[in-house]
Amino acid sequence: IPPPPLYYSPFPSGQQVPVIAKNESWGFPKDFWWGVASAAYQVEGAVQAEGRGPSIWDVLTHRVTDFVADNSTGDIADNQYYLYKQGQQWRLSWLAAINIARIAALGVPAYSFSISWSRIFPFGSGPVNEEAIAHYNDMIDTCIQYNVTPMVTLYHWDLPLVLQNTYGGWLSENIVNDFVAYARVAYARFGDRVNHWFTVNEPIVFCDMYPLPANYFKNTSITALHQPFVCGQNVLLAHAQAYRLGKSMMPGSTISFKNNGGYKIPLTNSSADAEAVQRAWDFNEGWFATPIFLTGDYPASLKSFVSTFLPAFTEEQKTLINGTSDVFAHDAYTSQFYFAPDDGIAACIANSSNPLYPSCANTSYAYSASDGGWLIGPAADPGSPWLHKATDWVPAFLRYIQDTWKPPGGVAVTEFGFAEPFEYSKKIRADILFDPIRSSYYHDYLQAILIAISEGVNVVGCLAWSLVDNLEWSTGYTVKFGMQYVNLTTQERYYKASFFTYVNAFQQYLAE
Ligand code: NOJ
Repeated sequence: IPPPPLYYSPFPSGQQVPVIAKNESWGFPKDFWWGVASAAYQVEGAVQAEGRGPSIWDVLTHRVTDFVADNSTGDIADNQYYLYKQGQQWRLSWLAAINIARIAALGVPAYSFSISWSRIFPFGSGPVNEEAIAHYNDMIDTCIQYNVTPMVTLYHWDLPLVLQNTYGGWLSENIVNDFVAYARVAYARFGDRVNHWFTVNEPIVFCDMYPLPANYFKNTSITALHQPFVCGQNVLLAHAQAYRLGKSMMPGSTISFKNNGGYKIPLTNSSADAEAVQRAWDFNEGWFATPIFLTGDYPASLKSFVSTFLPAFTEEQKTLINGTSDVFAHDAYTSQFYFAPDDGIAACIANSSNPLYPSCANTSYAYSASDGGWLIGPAADPGSPWLHKATDWVPAFLRYIQDTWKPPGGVAVTEFGFAEPFEYSKKIRADILFDPIRSSYYHDYLQAILIAISEGVNVVGCLAWSLVDNLEWSTGYTVKFGMQYVNLTTQERYYKASFFTYVNAFQQYLAE
């Protein structure tokens, strides 16, 4: 393989990519893993290719009107299934199209992607599809040839449809055996080259999606309010077994649970707001992290607030779950302000149509989704009281995680990123490629990680979301997180300026 050539996008004249000012006491440790992330359904396309079976997302995108904002699908997406390596199919210059080479060209040492379960097991369980195995084998080999460390997530939301329709997917304990059987095949076939694994991605998000629209998926007898917690219970059991199996098959590997959430800040200094913050930690990080890292069981407040909905673990299950993540792998995009409900907690729980919010802590972001932007941005209205730069919250957040859950392998930010407001409506490529707010976001966030490390937090890695613009689930292609722009007609890729900000921080601060 020839060394990948550099392929820079032009910057508007006079514009500079922000760089982190020199500070002698900052540095990323030598073995810090940094890279970029994506997920199968969001980038692969090729949904009918090489024996892939349908997943629930094929139904959600094709059948459920308006489930996705622009009614788009992942049928083609970024066509990564073909373009991870070759551009020839699309008669592009190979330069423009090759995803892995384009990461390597910028010196990015790690790429985190998910495997599509319904490619490996088109029927959810049963026969293994060897074409899919060959595909991911080649993708992993290509990463390694380019000196990019592959990191694999087993489940990033694209559940084989058949498992949803035969027994209700994550709502049934049957999922545990099927997930572990899938994990076993992945470990056996890829584990000789993949050392970093994540079992599930953001369970709060996919468990909160239950109940799925009943017209399109088999309904279950579990009542709607119970569903997220039943899902969470099965996620913990499936994860724990997959973790233990993985450690026995690949003793040198790192296997972690990947959850999400942001730093929680009380809106006022009232004790009610402080309690709202604590409930939010318990319902968000604690729901999964307390069983996995501390006790094998849910936080006490969860058990008391949602006692009607929360299933119990047996003692044996608690022992199984406790101690089953090496790294605290967390997707942390932003901070949120929390405040107590106006009507008091009891009323809030009684009135809530979604038991996940009996935490009854209201949240607020600097940007609203209707701005086309998401999350708190460093350049959001500088006069705003909501402004919250990453340097103000990331060090405290990472320290809180380390002190509270004491993860044995340290903390990693496994997704962070920014959807720049109104980027989706930009028509001129040069405008899209110049993304100063996203650049500032990465600049501030990486500086914040450096501060956390200098203050003694064991931060072991970070992965930017995302490698390329992709299908942003229910917001389709209207919200873009990529550090590369993709022309969805020609499939050409172009680096955005923020990608250079991101890479630059490691060029400056990674220990030799
Ligand atoms: C988290 C999810 O894991 C990913 O799939 C999604 O695109 C990003 N956050 C941005 O919303």
